[in-house]
Amino acid sequence: MYYLVSVILAAGKGTRMKSELVKVLHPVAGRPMLAYPVAAAKAVGSSRIIVVAGHQKDKVEAALQGQQVDIALQAEQLGSGHAVLMAAPHLKDFEGDVLILCGDVPLITTETLEAFLATHRENKACVSVLTVELDNPAGYGRILRTGGGDLCGIIEHRDATAAQLAVHEINTGIYCCRAPFLFEALGKVKTNNDQGEYYLPDIVSIAAAAGMKVQAMKTGDFEEVAGINDRAGLAKAEAAMQARIAGRHMAEGVTIFDPHATYIEADVQIGADTVVYPGTSLRGVTRIGCGCIIDMHSVIKDSIIGNGVHIKPSCMIDESTIADNVVVGPFAHLRPQAVLSEGARVGNFVEIKKSRIGTGSKVNHLTYIGDATIGSGVNVGAGTITCNYDGKRKHPTVIEDNVFIGSNTALVAPVTICKNALIGAGSTITKNVPENTLAVARGSQKNYENFMLPKPGKDKD
Ligand code: UD1
Ligand code: CA
Repeated sequence: MYYLVSVILAAGKGTRMKSELVKVLHPVAGRPMLAYPVAAAKAVGSSRIIVVAGHQKDKVEAALQGQQVDIALQAEQLGSGHAVLMAAPHLKDFEGDVLILCGDVPLITTETLEAFLATHRENKACVSVLTVELDNPAGYGRILRTGGGDLCGIIEHRDATAAQLAVHEINTGIYCCRAPFLFEALGKVKTNNDQGEYYLPDIVSIAAAAGMKVQAMKTGDFEEVAGINDRAGLAKAEAAMQARIAGRHMAEGVTIFDPHATYIEADVQIGADTVVYPGTSLRGVTRIGCGCIIDMHSVIKDSIIGNGVHIKPSCMIDESTIADNVVVGPFAHLRPQAVLSEGARVGNFVEIKKSRIGTGSKVNHLTYIGDATIGSGVNVGAGTITCNYDGKRKHPTVIEDNVFIGSNTALVAPVTICKNALIGAGSTITKNVPENTLAVARGSQKNYENFMLPKPGKDKD
């Protein structure tokens, strides 16, 4: 049995983000960036995951609720080495390997980590460091090697000599280290550097000097190991994550005409043969079935959509459930708890909130439906309003099967319109309407005959 524990560094504030929110909680594709290394640590078989938190520790802890991670507190940020040391009390008597990841490196893949761990194990290394060659290594810790090419240390940019600055191989900040050695070495790390901090990379030179096996594994993919330090870095990571998410959906048979112009968050599921047009934003825990058309400029959030659904352009759909073969939009607004049954039709400038629309029913134009239950085969005419709010409380409207509501009707709730009823256009309905009944509630028309029109030209002066 192989024992691996992951420690994820997330105590820093992220000053360069210039944000009220701690850096590691800034979202990438809808998830806090810290969630990605946590997921990667899980995927490579960590038996425990310890997140070292400091700034906004409570928020970090809340964001990770239910994830089975332990939180270690680093009250003062005295350096990355000091941060790892804060995990030590959680790992007493642990003799396996510790994988160290950064909370601000969300693009790291399971494949890269697996390859990294495999070399670490095969070579029976004491300390392994993941490195990458950069054209412009400015700002990063440089990898130092002996004349024979063996890894012997890491020097931070600000502490490096001109010769060391010429090195293009850099430290990604991802390490694997035998636990007993790690915590012993961290006890020896000093603060004799430009920042006066306890540097985690110093464990490499300590191990090398002690004759332990240290090694660097070079990865070819800088994008994966890029850390987010500012908003520009956040935008780059988002773009890379979007490309990855779109690629995954396309591989599963989804058409995305323009992946660069489509925003899909990490927890969205899309069925095969669904077509997603540019300008669309699919967010939260959204599940879209097969063979749907999601036309331009719609935002769909935390919603479930069946098969063969057509979302026409410019719809906002939030916490709603849509059954098969429904057509929505253009310009429709489905607010939380809108439920559209099979074959329903919701047209332009219609708002639906906390309401069920029955099978095959139509709400096609300029209508507000709130707190309503609508049966099957119902036609709701243009300009219909459920008056659900009396200024204090919300009241329900029930419209049973096969009702026809004429245009410009106000349904003053609570009110029930029973089966097969017909409401005359322009009615203000305040009383229940029985089955098979025509209800008309409007001022009746009067025609005034021989009405005198003013004579032409009379208004001249
Ligand atoms: C670090 C490495 C550098 C490497 C680079 C890769 C050090 C000293 N240097 O530099 O060699 O090339 O990452 O991106 O580690 N942290 C804490 N507590 C602290 C200090 C840091 O939790 O007291 C966390 C940060 O939140 C971050 C990580 O450790 O997740 C790295 O710290 P950071 O200050 O970003 O180091 P870099 O300058 O990026
Ligand atoms: Ca960093």
